[in-house]
Amino acid sequence: MSSSTFVQENHVKGDGILHLPVDKEIEHLIRTDKDLNITRAIQAPAFSTGQDIEGLNLLPKSIRKRLEDDNIDLSRGYPEIPPRSEIPVYLDQAFAIRNHELPYVERGKGADPEAKSLLKAATGIHDLTKHIGTEIVGLQLKDLTDKQKDELALLVEKRGVVFFRNQKLPPRKQKELGEYWGNVEVHPQAPHVPGLPGVTVIWVDYWQKKGMDINFKNCNDGNFDIVRYGSVGNQAWHTDLVHEKQPAGITHLHLDAIPDVGGDTMWASGYAAYDKLSEEMKKFLDGKKAVYTSYNKYVDRADPFGENRFIERIHPIVRTHPATGWKYLFVNRSMTKRIVGLTPVESDVILNYLFDVYEKNADIQVRFNWKSDPGYGTSAIWDNRSTQHRNIWDHEGLEPRHGTRVTSLAEIPYFDPNQVSTRGIRIAHYS
Ligand SMILES: [Fe+2]
Repeated sequence: MSSSTFVQENHVKGDGILHLPVDKEIEHLIRTDKDLNITRAIQAPAFSTGQDIEGLNLLPKSIRKRLEDDNIDLSRGYPEIPPRSEIPVYLDQAFAIRNHELPYVERGKGADPEAKSLLKAATGIHDLTKHIGTEIVGLQLKDLTDKQKDELALLVEKRGVVFFRNQKLPPRKQKELGEYWGNVEVHPQAPHVPGLPGVTVIWVDYWQKKGMDINFKNCNDGNFDIVRYGSVGNQAWHTDLVHEKQPAGITHLHLDAIPDVGGDTMWASGYAAYDKLSEEMKKFLDGKKAVYTSYNKYVDRADPFGENRFIERIHPIVRTHPATGWKYLFVNRSMTKRIVGLTPVESDVILNYLFDVYEKNADIQVRFNWKSDPGYGTSAIWDNRSTQHRNIWDHEGLEPRHGTRVTSLAEIPYFDPNQVSTRGIRIAHYS
């Protein structure tokens, strides 16, 4: 359904006037009146659909070259948002997208745990912290063999996030890599590279120009109270696409415009967050489930004039990783709303504590500066199951920061009650 067009039935009667049931009438209005905000982008209501000439004019020359060298047609503008006919209006339409099981092959499972093939081809590898983050030097991601891709998947899944500077990476190659690691997520309304759905454009400068209210004062408000202030840009701690039936597995963000100073990103380890908990707390949480929501809101067909609603999906709060077999805490302040079976007050107290475990323990986090040599981009490839991340918007849009992101959706989340604590194994993961 993700790429299909939502069909409007024709109900023209004898008077020649279109008569539709009320919900269809509302949908028809939203799809046809360009002044109505069909994307319901929380931060940037002025998003236009299709390709954007104004955006193309904002695009730095170096990015344009990367795209045109890969035969991306920019003549009608940049970036591209799906047409109004393809964007879901109602919650049930959005929920139906990928609401069926997709086959998934876990590439990291069974890969060489020492990653010999990958590391032999590299000139250097170093961990950035004890618990999360590794940088590999001397490899071009576009040249990896399948064996190396399998080993990289497992390394990412153990270390949370792996970085590669000085890359020449065409967007089509980035998408191919993502297709190898899972089912590439095609977002129904997020901006993407023209002609390449699934290669999402990460470009806060553009949102800002389109009306997103982000500034030095407010950019971190979501980290204080996500319910009252919402997430502005990508600054609130989160894990992507947790509302999916099969949420994100490996995600690959390639930045091709990087500020001279700043624009860093942080990640935190869910394995380590789980290991921070007492054994009694682990026992309490093991097997519990929670409600996870989407980033975007949609119209409730039963209450179209009421508040728009998020997609909701229930997943285990402690998940077992299919490749590493390790347990991890699967919560995030932005999109985990309540623990199933608890009262709202109980749920709020426990969830807020769990968010704090992720966010306040600096020893389970890594902060990465993306800088590459001039003319090159930097890639971060992370496990979007067992980590959280957030952007740091200290450059305030004064220098270009732009990237392309490909997310590979993974398995239906599960919890294995037989799994034991894996802290000892995790720390000694490779030599
Ligand atoms: Fe994100």
